[in-house]
Amino acid sequence: MTALPPIALGVNIDHVATLRQARYREMPDSSNAEPSPKEAAEIAEGAGAEGITAHLRMDRRHIQDADIVAIKQVVRTKLNLELGNTPEILQIVLAVKPEDVCLVPESREEVSTEGGLDVTGQFEALKPTVATLQEAGIRVSLFIDPEDHQIAASAKLGAEFVELHTGAFANAAGAEKDHELTRLIRGSAHAHALGLAVNAGHGLNYQNVRAMFELPHLVELNIGHSIISRAVTVGLDAAVREMKALLRR
Ligand code: PXP
Repeated sequence: MTALPPIALGVNIDHVATLRQARYREMPDSSNAEPSPKEAAEIAEGAGAEGITAHLRMDRRHIQDADIVAIKQVVRTKLNLELGNTPEILQIVLAVKPEDVCLVPESREEVSTEGGLDVTGQFEALKPTVATLQEAGIRVSLFIDPEDHQIAASAKLGAEFVELHTGAFANAAGAEKDHELTRLIRGSAHAHALGLAVNAGHGLNYQNVRAMFELPHLVELNIGHSIISRAVTVGLDAAVREMKALLRR
């Protein structure tokens, strides 16, 4: 039997910016402003990350416009930008030209029952955005719950990827956790059968990540909070290497 390939790791560096903004929100041009998301991206890649992920939010609570420009300049693997479906952010992202974009819910009405993007409900609004991104040569992923109708709508929209929302699994305990894992496994198989490549993420950490091996066809995990948290004690290079080691099957 041939060994399964390792799952790729996209490191979400939003919370590096969260820490900087906690002190320097009012002094964005201060030469003291730290830590640097750009430097974090370089370290994460140096430690083996296969991609860097960041989310430019409407409220700019963590990552700033200048960050994604700076990060794009240094990233050698690929940049995956998360964005809500708003014209303002779309224009900024098109100018930066990341390799991948993951559309995520930003406003309340875009959220499905469990927190993923409501592709079914937002289908018409998402159509032109997906087309515009793809025309610009950017691969599109949709961050969705592992629900059949959301997966089917994502395939119909012509996205290259779905990113399955693992938050419900991460927050559950006992039998509920098994149930959530089963939903992710089925969702992954369903998405693959419809021609979608499958990523996953949200709430994954050093304790629960290996459960993701159960998901068939999984390409990449996007992990942020737990890696940046671990970096506070062991450093970002070691935190990324530890996660990478866990992802070897
Ligand atoms: N994937 C998506 C689409 C997200 O929005 C987030 C959170 O920013 C993550 C993955 C990473 O989640 P966490 O920080 O919990 O690892």
